[in-house]
Amino acid sequence: MNNKNQLPIRQPARYQWLKSEPEFDPGKHLALETPEKIWSLKEFGYTSDEINQHPFPIAITTAFRMLSHEGLEAMREVTQQLIDFSSTSDRIGNFVRGGVYRSKFLRDFCNSPEITSFIEELVGTGVIPHTMPLYQGHINLLPKETNRDVDRWHLDTVCLDYVLLLTDPKEFEGGHFQFYPCHKDEAISSLNGTGKKSIQPISMQIPDAGYAILQQGNMVVHRALQVTKGDERTTLVHSFLPENLRAKDISQLSDCSPIDPHEILFTEWARHKAFLSQRKLEHLIKHLPFTDNRELICQRLSEAIKDVQSAILEISDESEKRLVYYGNDGLTDPKF
Ligand SMILES: [Fe+2]
Repeated sequence: MNNKNQLPIRQPARYQWLKSEPEFDPGKHLALETPEKIWSLKEFGYTSDEINQHPFPIAITTAFRMLSHEGLEAMREVTQQLIDFSSTSDRIGNFVRGGVYRSKFLRDFCNSPEITSFIEELVGTGVIPHTMPLYQGHINLLPKETNRDVDRWHLDTVCLDYVLLLTDPKEFEGGHFQFYPCHKDEAISSLNGTGKKSIQPISMQIPDAGYAILQQGNMVVHRALQVTKGDERTTLVHSFLPENLRAKDISQLSDCSPIDPHEILFTEWARHKAFLSQRKLEHLIKHLPFTDNRELICQRLSEAIKDVQSAILEISDESEKRLVYYGNDGLTDPKF
């Protein structure tokens, strides 16, 4: 059981709780099973230096069970009610965010110590549920337009997330989860047609409702294909942060800015970055060596407040932002 230093969620006034929903019971609702295979970053062609710069050695897993029959029924009851709050964007056709501000079941599920411990066993190191509630329990729905991918080729701006299927895959055709089994640079070059070799993505159909895949989603280029038959394909995407203080925060305000209400997002962002700096400052207070090395002390102080400084710059930037995605008519990340 975890007893972690997590950031408590504060409830914004604009959200109303669902009037009727089940109460989350981990003993009744969870059926956690280990995946058959976990691909490593090394298998995807990442160098040791690159792997050492990231908090987790994994790339992606095969599908594994998370929900019991009762858990699936309960989660479906909740997500059906949250559909009323769906939005759209360039990259993701139809989605719901902020669900943990409306559903206590979803909030308790996403912050379940049982699930967090299970994820830690899979990745081999400590994790905490993402400090930003907007990144908890994101729901992807079937786009309203036909011939549109559920989610276009992209990299996540969270480092670890699971994608939990909530619709019986016998009820729809298409909608596969696809990923490139290679370094992200190679995948993006392949999508842009500038790569030296053509690489084929792997298509995966999650075998049943209540099953999920786990990925270090900023290292694996992935998408969810369009559904060719059927009127429902619902997934829950939940994100984690590494517990490791030294891990670089890869979240990007620019990724949320086009899709989330700013009066919620900016405050969440400030709290998230303040939390990261707080943990680093606490570490510094406990462990900074006695020294007359001015440079070392100033460097440690600068590192500890770097997250807050970047938040100030990002929140001050009023320029228009769009979600980055690849291929087709996608926007190319300027880094590539
Ligand atoms: Fe993703």
